[in-house]
Amino acid sequence: MDLDRHRLDAVLAQRRIASAEASEIVDARDLEPDEVFRVVRYPLRVGLGEPDLQLGVEVEPVDGETLRMNVAALAELVRRHGPAVVLTGAGISTESGIPDFRSPTGTWAHYDPQEYATLDAFEADPIKVWSFYALRFRALNEARPNAGHLALAELERAGHVSALVTQNIDLLHERAGSREIVEVHGSIRTSTCRRCGAAYGIETVLTQLERDGPPRCDCGDVLKPDVVFFGEQLPEAAIDRAYELARSTRLLLVAGSALEVRPVSLLPDETVLAGGRVAIVNRGPTSFDGRAVLKIDGRAGETLSALVDALRA
Ligand code: APR
Repeated sequence: MDLDRHRLDAVLAQRRIASAEASEIVDARDLEPDEVFRVVRYPLRVGLGEPDLQLGVEVEPVDGETLRMNVAALAELVRRHGPAVVLTGAGISTESGIPDFRSPTGTWAHYDPQEYATLDAFEADPIKVWSFYALRFRALNEARPNAGHLALAELERAGHVSALVTQNIDLLHERAGSREIVEVHGSIRTSTCRRCGAAYGIETVLTQLERDGPPRCDCGDVLKPDVVFFGEQLPEAAIDRAYELARSTRLLLVAGSALEVRPVSLLPDETVLAGGRVAIVNRGPTSFDGRAVLKIDGRAGETLSALVDALRA
């Protein structure tokens, strides 16, 4: 298989895939390895079904010895192949009191994403979509970084992590002190007017939400939060950077993501195809478990804090 040729063909291939995919949801796991190079610019995509009862269920508490052995193995991977690029999802923020998406108690168990999180839904009824985002903006803004966020910031300062790719919009990595952060699904930092392009910061948006309901631009249009809705393209510079990082790292550490949503769920494939390794810290299964060199089924906060200690020893 001639990978370089596929890379050169990427622009053409992306166009082909975009048109072929308009009415089709493809499972990332069904892609052939050579197809993986072609899918960088997919719109945000996921199966919008019932919550997966396997995800996020209370696991047996991990005993101290098992945790110690798992963490020792992860520390060894980081020493040998680090600095790691870390890929985080909603599971890193549940210990800050923010529900994830696909657990039985996750956000999509209460809100149908088709009605509240697609670009079509926003265009049809922005006021209804803001009724959901108003609650989310307030909750995320009040949340504080937890032990997992703080551990990742510490690992970066110590030189064990080179960059963080996050699907989260909650700004908690930044608040914890991480510096090299790539936000692939946008964030609550700003909201923008789709008519005139004016951008408003979170404080202004929160004040408007308290006072008058859905935030509006001075020109009168309802603002759109700068988060990526399903059906929307990911910010190009961010997803390109995420792919670059995934391809160039020798160790990708996934923390708190079920890896169900494209195109981010394809990043581990990029790492492995480029000769790197993938390790996963996640409660419950992920789509990449079978191909990871290490899977730790535990809480991100506890595991990553223990990793900091193990790497200091
Ligand atoms: N420690 C480790 N893992 C955890 C923890 C925890 N404390 N809490 C929950 N998890 C696990 C869940 O069991 C689940 O497997 O984290 C995973 C979170 O997966 P999802 O809910 O699918 O969240 P995420 O992968 O971030 O979703 C990706 O989907 O809905 C969209 O745009 C949204 O960015 C989001 C994207």
